Amino acid sequence: MVKQKFNARFLWWHAVILWMIVVVVFFAGWDFVETHSFPDLDRETMRIAHLIRDALGAVVTSVLALLAVSLQFRRQALMAEEKRALNVKLRLFYSAFENSSDAILITDLTGRMGQTNRAFTDLFGYTQEEALGKGTNLLRSAHSSDEFYQKMWASIQTRGEWKGEIVNRDKWGEEIPIWLTITPIYEGERKIGYMGIEIDLREKKQLEERLLRAEKLAAIGQMSAQVAHEIRNPLSSVSLNTELLVDEITHVKGEEAVEAKRLLNSISSEVDRLSAICDEYLRLSSLPKPVFDTVQVNDVLRQLSSFLAAGADRMRIEVRMELDPALQNICADSRQLEQAFLNLMKNAFEAMPEGGLLSIETHSRASGVEILFSDTGRGMVEGIRKKLYDPFFTTKDKGTGLGMTITLQIIEQHGGKIECLSAYGRGTTFSVYLPLTPEVS
Ligand SMILES: Nc1ncnc2c1ncn2[C@@H]1O[C@H](COP(=O)(O)OP(=O)(O)OP(=O)(O)O)[C@@H](O)[C@H]1O
Ligand SMILES: [Mg+2]
Repeated sequence: MVKQKFNARFLWWHAVILWMIVVVVFFAGWDFVETHSFPDLDRETMRIAHLIRDALGAVVTSVLALLAVSLQFRRQALMAEEKRALNVKLRLFYSAFENSSDAILITDLTGRMGQTNRAFTDLFGYTQEEALGKGTNLLRSAHSSDEFYQKMWASIQTRGEWKGEIVNRDKWGEEIPIWLTITPIYEGERKIGYMGIEIDLREKKQLEERLLRAEKLAAIGQMSAQVAHEIRNPLSSVSLNTELLVDEITHVKGEEAVEAKRLLNSISSEVDRLSAICDEYLRLSSLPKPVFDTVQVNDVLRQLSSFLAAGADRMRIEVRMELDPALQNICADSRQLEQAFLNLMKNAFEAMPEGGLLSIETHSRASGVEILFSDTGRGMVEGIRKKLYDPFFTTKDKGTGLGMTITLQIIEQHGGKIECLSAYGRGTTFSVYLPLTPEVS
């Protein structure tokens, strides 16, 4: 473009100089021919000859001037056309950049951010103005070591690009798994910066986790059937025999008999606990298909809270309910919902051993209902929150680690969603969304 501009100006000056030379040569040539070839011309002939010369000169200069002006006009028209075409191209590229669904950022050679697009702002929370001039380490998370970054830059220098998975951090500190591609940007031969395209991998990761969980559940399902067969039957005979033994010694008196009864009771309660664990495993392996009916979630929650009221009082836990009076009925299996909500409430109680507040809210949403369970308990660190739905993951001495697995399974069977927000030491909120009619995936 610069070269073309230079050529056009160069041509213009050529035309002007050529024009001046032609004019000078014409008049000088005329004088020369006149004085050397016709020295004896009379005054009248000379006057006529000069008239003809001036007229010819005027015609020649006018034609040349016209030519030069039209050349100039044509040049300007070409430049305007070129500028318009360039603007169209620029707008097209800018729109592609700005509307890309993947986050794009352009940096200078030192890694300082220049242009960023809308998807970048949506993904990381930084506006173009906030990102401008800052280093890319603004997005760096604790997952990427100095060594990792050194290797990345070495690859860009040697291979000209870098592609790979990386964990970045948004404006609020949330870590986001990203598929990143970095390529250099050139102006002619000169490298002037880098372009980074960042693809959000959160959805893909969630899907992978779900698949993994489903696989684990399938394996557990098989195992549970065996457990039921191998353990539950002997357990019930242990339980029966313990009861028989208790009956046998009811009439025996004395200190030893009291001790024997105490031991038998302890056996009995441990056997019950083992049976309950077996039941839980079984429920997980063969969670029945939901039987859908019209359900008012507010009613389910009210029943549950009155069922748990005595326990809550004992633990000095206040259960506060703010139920949307206009909450729509949904199509669901009320027994399964009860089970899922009970698991969430039980976990909340267990997270507040010194007492606290569990608030339960319901809200109408466009095509479903939302239920929030917020406790003021111990909360969870990120590591625990991530494993929350894993089968058998528990931090409790007597927990099976199946409560949340079953809860998630129930909610997914209803085509719903569950999200957890937790801050260690400050409490936990579970948000459950259930559609009006289940679109079971
Ligand atoms: N509201 C909560 N506050 C703090 N931690 C929680 C909360 N809910 C769940 N957790 C954590 O998640 C873990 C898994 O919960 P889950 O309900 O699956 O199993 P569990 O409660 O340990 O055992 P079970 O439900 O079989 O009694 C818990 O051990 C606990 O560490
Ligand atoms: Mg639990």
